[in-house]
Amino acid sequence: MSPIEQVINKNDTSLNPIWIMRQAGRYLPEFREIRSKNTDFIELCLNEELSSEITLQPLKRFNLDAAIVFSDILMLPYGLGQKVEFQKNFGPRLGELNINDIAKVDEIDFVEKTHKIYKLIKKVSSNSLLKNKNTIGFVGAPWTLLVYMINQQSPKKKLKENFFKDDFLINRILLIIEKFLKIHIKNQVDNGANIIQIFDSWAGLLEEKDLPSYVYTPTLNLVNFVKSLNIPVICFPREIKNYKEFCEIVNPDVISIDYNVDPKEIAKILKIPVQGGLDPKVLLTDKENLKKETMRYLEIFKDHPYIFNLGHGILPETNPDMVEYLVNIVKDHK
Ligand code: CP3
Repeated sequence: MSPIEQVINKNDTSLNPIWIMRQAGRYLPEFREIRSKNTDFIELCLNEELSSEITLQPLKRFNLDAAIVFSDILMLPYGLGQKVEFQKNFGPRLGELNINDIAKVDEIDFVEKTHKIYKLIKKVSSNSLLKNKNTIGFVGAPWTLLVYMINQQSPKKKLKENFFKDDFLINRILLIIEKFLKIHIKNQVDNGANIIQIFDSWAGLLEEKDLPSYVYTPTLNLVNFVKSLNIPVICFPREIKNYKEFCEIVNPDVISIDYNVDPKEIAKILKIPVQGGLDPKVLLTDKENLKKETMRYLEIFKDHPYIFNLGHGILPETNPDMVEYLVNIVKDHK
């Protein structure tokens, strides 16, 4: 059993496994090298030779316990035929969403567009670098995908005022998203993903009263689906205010926390395994501060099943030496 599985299945508190959100990405010069020659991000994700190499890059450098598949949550709208582009210094830009078009897409059409991702997972998960380690597949949560598909770009701090004006339409889109997320998850698992993480990056945009319809219920459906495949599921409902309520209703195997919550409070109120928390900006400071902050999380969770990670993705300006230092602190901690 891998260290991460020991935490999840046996409530181990001695092994301190670690992986890092966005560990395959722009802070690594070897990634930037490949990226500079491959300007179309989607094409790069769908090139299984290059995307498997990118997935393994951080594992060649650091003693991490998992690889996260090099792909993107927006491969789902892409698979449904919505236009998705990534522009430098802007982020994702999606084409107009046409409900009648996406309603016609069937499983064969979808997998035709996404099957290279599953090939990449097959390649990565059989690599010897992953011996006794995990291959983490992932999806965006229905809510976060809905936000991107309707908003066509990253929302700023809040939703457009008329976002919910056509709730019939919204519910129809949510059902389509959910159906294809299950297909996407099943194919990832069938090809070697042995943990699934659900990223709900925009859960924090919702008012409390809207959480059941848009976050709890759709996410619970996916969590139950992943569990039915006998694979652990990690949820990251970023910036929600009430992690306890989320865990009671959705009941994931692991809850990943952002850096705005008080880890002490989390350790006290949550019984299930916890992941993450450290502010990625700490990696931009100095080693002394990084050590202090890292030790703070390790101490708080010393008697709690805990997977070390950040409270959001690693920042592109991070120095890889700091990552190495972080991984060593965590792995050497007894
Ligand atoms: O190591 C890994 O985590 C690689 C796989 C991965 C990527 N995106 C690659 C990527 C994962 C797990 C994601 C998740 C993702 N994508 C999320 C959820 C996590 C989060 O950050 O909240 C979201 C919201 C997206 C959508 C997305 N993709 C945005 C907003 C952007 C642009 C801004 C940014 O953060 O870079 C992307 C592009 C993207 N996805 C890049 C990478 C490596 C950068 C592409 C580039 O080189 O220009």
